[in-house]
Amino acid sequence: AKIRHYRWEVKYEFKSPDCYRKLVITINGKSPGPTIRAQQGDTIVIDLKNGLLTENVAIHWHGIRQIGTPWADGTEGVTQCPVLPGDTFRYKFVVDRAGTYLYHAHYGMQREAGLYGSIQVALPDGENEPFVYDYDRSVILNDWYHRSTYEQAAGLSSVPFVWVGDPQSLLIEGRGRFNCSRTPDVASGVCNMTNPECSPYVFTVVPGKTYRLRIGSLTALAALSFEIEGHNMTVVEADGHYVEPFVVKNLYVYSGETYSVLVTANQDPTRNYWVVTKMVSRNNTTPNGFGIFNYYPNHPRRSPPTVPPSGPWWNDVDARVNQSLAIKSHRDYVHPVPQTSDRVIILLNTQNRINGSVKWSINNVSFTLPHTPYLVSLKHDLLHTFEQTPPPDVINGYEAYDINIAPPNVNATSSNSLYRLKFNTTVDIILQNANTLNVNNSETHPWHLHGHDFWVVGYGDGKFNASEDPKRYNLVNPIMKNTVPVHPYGWTALRFVADNPGVWAFHCHIESHFYMGMGVVFEEGIEKVTKLPSSIMGCGDTRRFIKP
Ligand code: C2O
Ligand code: CU
Repeated sequence: AKIRHYRWEVKYEFKSPDCYRKLVITINGKSPGPTIRAQQGDTIVIDLKNGLLTENVAIHWHGIRQIGTPWADGTEGVTQCPVLPGDTFRYKFVVDRAGTYLYHAHYGMQREAGLYGSIQVALPDGENEPFVYDYDRSVILNDWYHRSTYEQAAGLSSVPFVWVGDPQSLLIEGRGRFNCSRTPDVASGVCNMTNPECSPYVFTVVPGKTYRLRIGSLTALAALSFEIEGHNMTVVEADGHYVEPFVVKNLYVYSGETYSVLVTANQDPTRNYWVVTKMVSRNNTTPNGFGIFNYYPNHPRRSPPTVPPSGPWWNDVDARVNQSLAIKSHRDYVHPVPQTSDRVIILLNTQNRINGSVKWSINNVSFTLPHTPYLVSLKHDLLHTFEQTPPPDVINGYEAYDINIAPPNVNATSSNSLYRLKFNTTVDIILQNANTLNVNNSETHPWHLHGHDFWVVGYGDGKFNASEDPKRYNLVNPIMKNTVPVHPYGWTALRFVADNPGVWAFHCHIESHFYMGMGVVFEEGIEKVTKLPSSIMGCGDTRRFIKP
């Protein structure tokens, strides 16, 4: 195994990812940042210099379990203090499993300012994937807002509440195209559709070849459909695990998920084709994102001769649920599932109001981050730094709760308390969706677990029935993932083993939802965590450990 050393500097720079110039956080001048390419078992060392001048930073390695290095997870408030302007922080961790992963900022709503990228981990020499392809490419999908993350965050915490609204654009590998004629900023040059930074993403293929396309989504809000005009895609990997292959025309991807699909360039080679992303799951005004699937040797900028496919209906929930149900573990790579669990936690999500502002709550608790990172507080017994009463495993009155109406009790409490899991036990999590504060509205939430992969043992419509539904769990060949959607008015059941000493966030990957309190934190095996590096300290009550 190798040590791969990176030197990164993050900075604010003016960029025009969708032709509209704004301040973007770059890594070494780029957004998306550099792709980390490594082999299973390698050690990654990143010396991250914070060049933001007046803003802290932290980077999370999404999908990397951080076994033995919980302090390198990059979750501000959970596993580390933020990295101060001018400081350099060293992340050092092992990529222990081949697959497709992501990285992104994990401080405030900073991720959507452009600080993100992808991680590709290859198999060890001599091992093969259970599928064949000629070339391997990765593409990150995103959505894009023109307003700064500060403006958005301020709106979300004001009274009256100001929602972030629909994204202005969808980006494919950091490129989108906003229609500048719709803004007054075209005259000033702030919006300029001839800027080469916003020329469309081009995916060049050689006729007859098969491509492994690694698709990841780091949208702030949007659930996406991804398609390549006229081409089928075979899904073969999800969040680093091999999938029993299935074919789709369009792939639904939620924020925080990664997939590998195989695409063969087997259509008329004399022309190009559209690559289309479309926002689904909420009614929206965001225009579709476009790229070009370019058959060599046609000119890469030549527009396809056809009208781009318009994509699925935004409200076709069944199609999305069906894709979720289709994802099973590849038959030769099943990780045996524990057949029983030791603890069941039902996480009911509701929208609520606290002091007049709108929040998301889990079991009536809206999550806030503590000022002293849990990892340090728990390891060093600074228990006064966060609330000690744990949140409930099931909300009071769950049996009677009607998920089809707006929450009858709109009040919730904010808390920074966490769930403490007994080391090495098996835990079931039921994500239970419900109606929001608006009538006839339930949203899709992609939940991401740090430090683990979990088995996705079941999805269901309506309210989870604790005596009947577990009988229908898939305990034979469920896929393991780190991010999973809970569909509107439905539930999703996950199982994992609490065997990774540390403190791990579990939250909705929609940036504004987590900011509004949609998350929880798990602690397990804290006593097994070895000496914490002092580099993660310096804020809140951890200052006592820093020698003057
Ligand atoms: Cu990719 Cu806690 O997030
Ligand atoms: Cu959400």
